[in-house]
Amino acid sequence: MNHLVCTQCPAGFPDTDVRWRCECGGLLDLECETHFDFDQIARRPADMWRYREAIPIRSDKNSVSLEEGFTPLSSLKLEGKDILVKQDHLFPTGSYKDRGASVLISKAKELGVDYVVEDSSGNAGCAIAAYCASAGIECEIFVPESTSPAKLNQIKSYGARLNRVPGTREDTANAAMEAAQSHFYASHSWNPYFFHGTKTFAFEICEQLGWQAPDTVIVPVGNGTLLLGCEIGFRELLADQVIEKMPRLVGIQASGCAPLFHAFQSGAEDIAEFERQDTKAEGIAIAQPVRAKQILAAVRSSGGTILAVEDSDTLSALKDMALIGHYIEPTSAATIAGARKYLGCNQTSGETIVTTFTGHGLKYT
Ligand SMILES: Cc1ncc(COP(=O)(O)O)c(C=O)c1O
Ligand SMILES: [Zn+2]
Repeated sequence: MNHLVCTQCPAGFPDTDVRWRCECGGLLDLECETHFDFDQIARRPADMWRYREAIPIRSDKNSVSLEEGFTPLSSLKLEGKDILVKQDHLFPTGSYKDRGASVLISKAKELGVDYVVEDSSGNAGCAIAAYCASAGIECEIFVPESTSPAKLNQIKSYGARLNRVPGTREDTANAAMEAAQSHFYASHSWNPYFFHGTKTFAFEICEQLGWQAPDTVIVPVGNGTLLLGCEIGFRELLADQVIEKMPRLVGIQASGCAPLFHAFQSGAEDIAEFERQDTKAEGIAIAQPVRAKQILAAVRSSGGTILAVEDSDTLSALKDMALIGHYIEPTSAATIAGARKYLGCNQTSGETIVTTFTGHGLKYT
């Protein structure tokens, strides 16, 4: 049976509870049974719900899906080397956040929730708003005032209530937490169901590689929804003996806001206070990621690393990708700049490396 467990105290809760955190205030994880039946999977449509036995929603009738996922895993030449890129900017709302939103809003529907609140730098807000629209659930999204206009329009178009909050990304999170006192918090950083959607990124990569794990996966990291989704997904595949090893997880941050990079470099278990500067990579500009300890532990135990990139390198990557036909947003380009950095300083011969485009360029005009 699936159940919720606290990361800070011994408490556990059934998956029928409408809750997003423990009584002690701690973050919750979801322990869940998974199973991979290759024949069944191969017969199903090419979307992320083909891994149905590994998605923690009890009844099919509660699945909220726009037939998302199974994005192309394409070749990409970077620094003269051949790597693979998962094109997750090709989701219905234009970012990989649809993976998490589809599962989280399915769970909200299963729990009978009729109103959710969420805070976001933009893309998670777009995804939650879209899946709520599909499920007929009312939705209120909090974003920083500085969020890209295209993302604001997109959130409003889905019929969500939009609150633009002055100040930092953390001020926005606090405003949503306040609203979450009386409503269900469909938070992509707090709610564990979101991560059981993003984990399908790992399942798809393995299937697309002939049920093999890659050696290295390079992803952006702010709140860590994709990085921790990778950790959960590959760990579940390992536990089911589908793969034989955990890939190295490499997280990319923007130098202007890189608390995880600094903590990783100094060997710390958690992030420290620091002075944030502006960055073009708005999606990963998270000064206080709530799952920082989990992210650092996941990267370390995989033998991976966290790198930070300058905006100038991000903008070069953005331009270079467009000039070979890939229109991505700056946050997404930061990952490509990070992949370049990784390739420039690591011995990679024979290494299967997967990176990703996480957000579409039309989001940031
Ligand atoms: C395009 C894009 N890539 C990456 C991320 C990073 O996700 P996370 O903060 O969960 O690590 C975001 C977050 O909003 C995003 O919008
Ligand atoms: Zn607790």
